[in-house]
Amino acid sequence: MYSSLIRWSFVLCLVLFSDCKDLLELSAIVPRYAKLGETVVLKCNHTVVENQLYKVQWTKNGDKLFQYIRGRVPPYINHTIPGAKIDWGQTKPSELALMDVQHDASGQYACTVTTESPIYSKTSESHDLTVIKIQSTDPTIEIFKEVFNVGDILDATCTSGPSKPVPEITWLVNGRRPPDTYMKPIVKTALDSASAMRLTFPVSDKLGAEVHLTCLSTIPGFINHKADYHDYADYRTTSIIVSVAAKSEPVTAGCGKEFISIVVVAVTAAAAVVFKT
Ligand SMILES: *[C@@H]1O[C@H](CO)[C@@H](O)[C@H](O)[C@H]1NC(C)=O
Ligand SMILES: *[C@@H]1O[C@H](CO)[C@@H](O)[C@H](O)[C@H]1NC(C)=O
Repeated sequence: MYSSLIRWSFVLCLVLFSDCKDLLELSAIVPRYAKLGETVVLKCNHTVVENQLYKVQWTKNGDKLFQYIRGRVPPYINHTIPGAKIDWGQTKPSELALMDVQHDASGQYACTVTTESPIYSKTSESHDLTVIKIQSTDPTIEIFKEVFNVGDILDATCTSGPSKPVPEITWLVNGRRPPDTYMKPIVKTALDSASAMRLTFPVSDKLGAEVHLTCLSTIPGFINHKADYHDYADYRTTSIIVSVAAKSEPVTAGCGKEFISIVVVAVTAAAAVVFKT
């Protein structure tokens, strides 16, 4: 009932007006990332009813990739798809299933829908698909000591496992992302499919006696603190705990000099950088 209503208003609209963009709505539903070897289903989500649908065509980076024409025998042309094979079992007029995807299948996909009578075409926006080779190992953290005094410079490096594209690395200190100025990407020779990030900052007693350092190595890069591993196409993490030594100034009862030195330490610590919450 509802679909025949859409159909008739669509036909009427085409007859009376030249611009029916509001009635023919379409969008290409393309997953942003796919893992090497996976099957991905690209959907051309449109409002054209089946018996008004004449043609559905997919393009990749602007080149014709796949075409369905209703009534033609066979209705599909057996195109060669760069970096994938068509999964005929899951392919439908408005759904293109690509199996065993390889890096060459990465690109911008869009679909065009054509109605039968009168003939009218509309093309969706294009969407990126990136085929990724996920990391085979967790990232590794290198650090030269695990006990720090307040004011020491903590210096640690995290290196990802290999992947394509290379993952992005973010450090979390006690679960929070430190300011960008504390993190520097480092280039390691012969590191063509991995990435590395150095973290350096002065240790403040505001961090507590135990500091949790976490390295996230993800595709795409850090999203936000609320994101969990489901929100990433590839997610690997490694954590360590370092300790901050208790202050070692000897306190002698009644000795004013020691008291002053403790006050100085406290003021210095308060001036040290405190991570934004
Ligand atoms: C498909 O298109 C309809 C109408 O334009 C829209 O309401 C719906 O959200 C789309 N579905 C998806 C999964 O994007
Ligand atoms: C397309 O080609 C493949 C392999 O060459 C074949 O298995 C399949 O049946 C063909 N499909 C169509 C619709 O022609």
